Amino acid sequence: MSLTYDAFRALLDGERLPALVVDLDAFDRNVTRHVSLLRGHALTLRSATKSIRIRTLLRRLLDRGGSTFRGLMCYSADEAASLADAGFDDLLLAYPTLQPGPLRRLAKCVAKGCLIRVAVDSSEGATALARAGASEGVAMKACICVDMSITFGTYFLGVRRSPLHTPEQVLSLAREARTQGLEVDAILAYEAIVAGLPDDVRGSLTNGIKAAIKRRAMPELIDRRAKIVNLLTRDGFALGIANGGGTGSLEQTVHDGSLTEVTAGSGFFKPHLFDAYRSAFVRSLEPACFFALEVTRTPTAEFVTCHGGGYVASGSFDPPKGPLPSLPQGLSLLPHEMAGEVQTPLRLPRGLALPLGSPVMFRHAKAGEVTEHFRRAILVQGGRIVDRVATYRGEDDPS
Ligand SMILES: Cc1ncc(COP(=O)(O)O)c(C=O)c1O
Repeated sequence: MSLTYDAFRALLDGERLPALVVDLDAFDRNVTRHVSLLRGHALTLRSATKSIRIRTLLRRLLDRGGSTFRGLMCYSADEAASLADAGFDDLLLAYPTLQPGPLRRLAKCVAKGCLIRVAVDSSEGATALARAGASEGVAMKACICVDMSITFGTYFLGVRRSPLHTPEQVLSLAREARTQGLEVDAILAYEAIVAGLPDDVRGSLTNGIKAAIKRRAMPELIDRRAKIVNLLTRDGFALGIANGGGTGSLEQTVHDGSLTEVTAGSGFFKPHLFDAYRSAFVRSLEPACFFALEVTRTPTAEFVTCHGGGYVASGSFDPPKGPLPSLPQGLSLLPHEMAGEVQTPLRLPRGLALPLGSPVMFRHAKAGEVTEHFRRAILVQGGRIVDRVATYRGEDDPS
């Protein structure tokens, strides 16, 4: 972390709180760490927009990542269309939709020359996408999305994404999509079971099991991806893109020779869930995104209470998805209160006093999700505020 508490306090003096703050120095260093990890591998990196949700920073990623960073992985059709309208290109919508309106909006962007691929994992999805393309007179590009779960005997380990598990199922849908007039030139095979599994959770007895699952899963998943790519290629599909990985798996995923690109997003902000990974790469990343709450009460000398703060992340409750106080160091949440709907009490470490009106810096559990609570982000670099930019929520065309 490049900024001390005193530096944050000085920067935020007179600012309206709560405030979202991005430390650009830390963000840029995280970008450099991603570029270094990919060096020597024939891979590019597609940034996951959901983990950023600030256009200025998406642009910064593409600029700073140079030839290593290529394109964006989007999470909704309207979002992808609004990014295309804003001048972004090479977009991969990674989560299928059947909605005719948003798909047609994407088809219009394609008709104007934007490169967009859409994830498809069902006949119905392929039909909806082909129809949207036909209505605008363009052939849409489909990216077949593959499930990357594994089984141990009858035990299922995965995240219930795509219904396509085997290479033969992938081929069958690819052929069907081609028949419908779609151009199939991409696969998406995200190993959530590795990328999304924190294996260094403090005090957890299952860390060793999770690490063993990852070790066992990765070779099997790499083998499955190779079979899928081979089968499709032999059937005449020219795959421009084979995408896999996420921040949590990147260190292993870069060794998969079947992939043309990896996806990552969370590592640029390094939210606190990523403190619980063994991966040396993940550990090398530094927190770059914070939110500041104002101290508005001092119930006793040992406690302060901040206004707001209950920005809890989505997903399972294990590990806990609430935010954590980050600076000043040593503050702790109260187990029966945690980060509350309208206020967040904190226990002070011995010897620390925080006057009313002071900021407290928090980290969210996930990356881009916290931006949903803010319309603006304060960008900090070299110890000064250098810009104030809109989050997706603050854009004219929110998605
Ligand atoms: C398809 C896909 N790829 C990659 C990722 C990884 O994103 P991140 O690096 O932000 O964890 C995700 C996260 O959910 C995903 O859904």
